[in-house]
Amino acid sequence: EETGSASPLNVLVTGGAGYIGSHVVYCLQKTRRYKVISIDNGHNSLPEALVRVGQLSREELPPDASERDIQSTEIDMHNVDLTKEEQVRGVFEKYGKGGIWGLIHIAAYKAVGESTEIPLTYYQNNVAATISLLQIMSEFECYRLVYSSSATVYGTPPIVPIPESTRLQADSPYGKTKVMAETIIDDLCHAEPEKWQAISLRYFNPAGAHPSGRIGEDPKGRPGNLLPLLAHMAVGRVKEAVLKVFGNDYPTHDGTCVRDYLHVLDLASGHLLALDALDGNSQVFHDRPNARFKAYNLGKGRGMSVLEIVEAMRLATGFDYRTEIIGRRRGDVPDLTADPTLAEKELGFKASQDLGTMCRDLWNWQSKNPQGYGEQ
Ligand code: WQD
Repeated sequence: EETGSASPLNVLVTGGAGYIGSHVVYCLQKTRRYKVISIDNGHNSLPEALVRVGQLSREELPPDASERDIQSTEIDMHNVDLTKEEQVRGVFEKYGKGGIWGLIHIAAYKAVGESTEIPLTYYQNNVAATISLLQIMSEFECYRLVYSSSATVYGTPPIVPIPESTRLQADSPYGKTKVMAETIIDDLCHAEPEKWQAISLRYFNPAGAHPSGRIGEDPKGRPGNLLPLLAHMAVGRVKEAVLKVFGNDYPTHDGTCVRDYLHVLDLASGHLLALDALDGNSQVFHDRPNARFKAYNLGKGRGMSVLEIVEAMRLATGFDYRTEIIGRRRGDVPDLTADPTLAEKELGFKASQDLGTMCRDLWNWQSKNPQGYGEQ
């Protein structure tokens, strides 16, 4: 007998089948307060990720779980491309005006180097598609938004650790798409302050995987990012034992780039805290009299260098990595370490899991799934 349990709130996650998205969907389901809808075009993901999230959520339900709880682990998956406006509208029509309580917008192209080669594709997918999504949200009276942004909006920051008040000066088309989308969302919240509430989450470097090893990062093709590349090397998916280090002449303690790595589940939990803050009772907009829009850094406030990461992965995997120092990679900046105090103070966010845990969870996922979610 369900006593006083309201029906779950529909939350739509774009990019729900991706690395971040699947962990966010998992955390949404854990609360048993939300019914998840996912829009994903499969560009950098496979539906299997959400099949496994649903299985994980069901396995973790208490034995006395109600029928409603079991139903709330069902994920409405839509294989839709956000640049196809009619398809997106069709998804919203299924739930009707006001039927979607909130939206977490994660879907985007995110490779800095690639964005310099195909800028129009990045502007189309990350900016134009966000504009049409916002228009459709408006049509269907869905005015709560958590937006996935990135530390790359800071470009080469003047001070580190980086506070949110730092001037945004992205220098890659990818980073600029994130600045533009934040600006558009901010302007929309100023235009309709009584309707819109939005929180932008500036991700630092997510790493690791759910400790079960059932879900994790599964980039298509050769990973561009350091940690998945090291995992592919250790599992033999990349036939190299030498990690090319992109420069050791940076002004950092060991000359290699420093980044703020945080566990992907800590990052995902930050999305739940942001969503909670959009329920109208939160203090997060106390210093925003004209518009309910705010951006938060999601990081640990602790930077680790490339060489430190390699060492941590050597410990976690037992793989004997060799390193070779080569030239710098275009677009890299010396140090992106977050000042996480605002999110800690106002959202109650705390990225507590340490690097060893991130590397162990990453290796647990990769060693159990050498080919990721399947043949690609
Ligand atoms: C980390 C460090 C490299 C590979 C990326 C995206 C960014 C954001 C987070 C979305 C850098 C070095 C890497 C290699 C190396 N994604 N490296 N050899 O660049 O901080 O950010 O992920 O928001 O948009 O660019 O992460 O993992 O690519 O690199 O030396 O083979 O490892 O130079 O210093 P990055 P990364």
